[in-house]
Order: sequence, then structure tokens, then C-alpha cells
Amino acid sequence: MSQWSELTDDSKSRWEEIAEFWDDYLGEHSNRFHREIIRPKTEELLAVNEGQTILDIACGNGNFSRRLADLGAKVVAFDYSSKMIERAKSRSKDYLNSIDYQVIDATNVDSLTELGTERYDGAVANMALMDIADITCLVKALEYMLKKNGAFVFSIPHPCFQTPNTRKIHETEDINGEIVTRNSIQISKYLTPESCQTIGIRGQPIPHLIFHRPLSYYMNLFINSNFVLDGWEEPCFQKDENANKQQFDWYELPPAVILRFRKM
Ligand SMILES: C[S@@+](CC[C@H](N)C(=O)[O-])C[C@H]1O[C@@H](n2cnc3c(N)ncnc32)[C@H](O)[C@@H]1O
Repeated sequence: MSQWSELTDDSKSRWEEIAEFWDDYLGEHSNRFHREIIRPKTEELLAVNEGQTILDIACGNGNFSRRLADLGAKVVAFDYSSKMIERAKSRSKDYLNSIDYQVIDATNVDSLTELGTERYDGAVANMALMDIADITCLVKALEYMLKKNGAFVFSIPHPCFQTPNTRKIHETEDINGEIVTRNSIQISKYLTPESCQTIGIRGQPIPHLIFHRPLSYYMNLFINSNFVLDGWEEPCFQKDENANKQQFDWYELPPAVILRFRKM
């Protein structure tokens, strides 16, 4: 099973409870993960042009919606957490004419329908599809919301390297007086879709729900819905020799995958 509609209410009430913590933590400029892993390749794949209309799905505190508006787009941005949208609006006072924020559940087909038909040049969902209990409605809705050739770009934690219960291993060894460190991960399960609780940001008041699906699930869902895959990025942090070598680092193992599906 890859749809957990019965968990949407639970998942939403958890996001309502952690929204303010997340917004306080991410602030105006978001975190290093967003700035270095998600944003550059997402912008490249989405290739926004001035005047285009872009849908930002599960926009959180609107950090990327504002970036899209800065690039000249007209943005419709939604999230099912009213607290997230409150925070997004309060951070977007200078964007009243360019961003329309709405509280909408991405699993509710009727609400999605109201967002318009063949209205969007592009759509984006940054680090969100794995938080949505059932993405089948959204993919179907994108089929009619996007204009012909419109692109949908989304990022998710890389399902091959960040499955539930991924064990991150950081080893340090003194080899003839040289301290050698090595990062690796241990995965015992990938294929079976699974929902579980997770901590996205250390210290968040309660865990939220995450829905792991293997890559083939995403591929088949889009390919069977009139989309073609035409962009694929596996961004990784650049090696930083000055970084703290006492902790696990994502080098050579991409923490996220960013895909672009284009409506035919
Ligand atoms: C990890 S955050 C990412 C937020 C934003 N895209 C970003 O990159 O900063 C995931 C977001 O998905 C939202 N979300 C989860 N399920 C949703 C649903 N069914 N409908 C709308 N938003 C949802 C959460 O409220 C949360 O804001």
C-alpha cells in the first residue's frame, strides 16, 4: 500500500503543532540543506520565466514561493497547515501582488480543482510529497492544472539512501597516526512503502509522519498519468575540508533526489 488517506488528519494536526517551531528554525533564509541541496537544482529544472504562473505545493513558510516571486513569477502557494500559511503570509508582506497563499489539503481533489485548469506554466513541491499521505489525487490534478508541456519539479529525501530506519554510520580510525573518517549508511528495507513517525529538525515538539515510497512508485504514477520524466538531479554537499569531521556528512551519498516530470 502506498496511500494512507486515513492518516491525513493525524499528519495535519502534527504539522499544525510543529509549524511555528519549523518556521522559527528556518527563518527568512531557510537552512543549509534547502539553500545548497534543494534550491539551486530546483530552480535550474523549473527554469522560471518572468510573468509565468507557478504553483507551489505544500509551500510551508513560503521561503521558495518568495524566491519564485523574486524571479518574476505569479505564485499560487498552498499548504494544509493554517499555521504555516499564517507564518508564510506574515513573512510575505512585500509580496501581496505576486503570491496568493491558500490553506488547501493536497489530498482533497475538490479543493485542488478550484485552483484552476490549464492555468500553471509550472508547479513545484519542495521536500513535501513524502509528507503527503496520498499523492494520487495531486498527480491526477496536476494533469489538468498544468498547461501543455508544463513542468512539475519535486524534491524528496532520496528513497534509496533515506528510507525509514536508515542507519547512518560514522567511523573514525587512527591509521599510523593519521585520523581517517568514513561515512556510510546501512539500509535493510527499500521496496515496501511504509509510513512512520520522523524528526525533520532536531528539537521539534513532536514527530511528524513520513510516507516512504520506492522510486518505481513515483515513476509509474507519473508515467501512467500523461507525464514524461525529463529531468533528474541527485545533489550532494560539496566536500568541505574544514567541516567538523566528528559527525556524519552527506558526501557522495545524495540526501535528496529532484525530478522533473513534464505534462505531455
Ligand atoms: C518538509 S515541509 C516543506 C515545506 C516547503 N515546501 C519547504 O521546502 O520549505 C512539508 C510541508 O508539507 C505540508 N503538507 C504535508 N501534507 C500536506 C497535504 N496533504 N496538503 C498540503 N500540505 C501538506 C506540511 O504542512 C509542510 O509544510
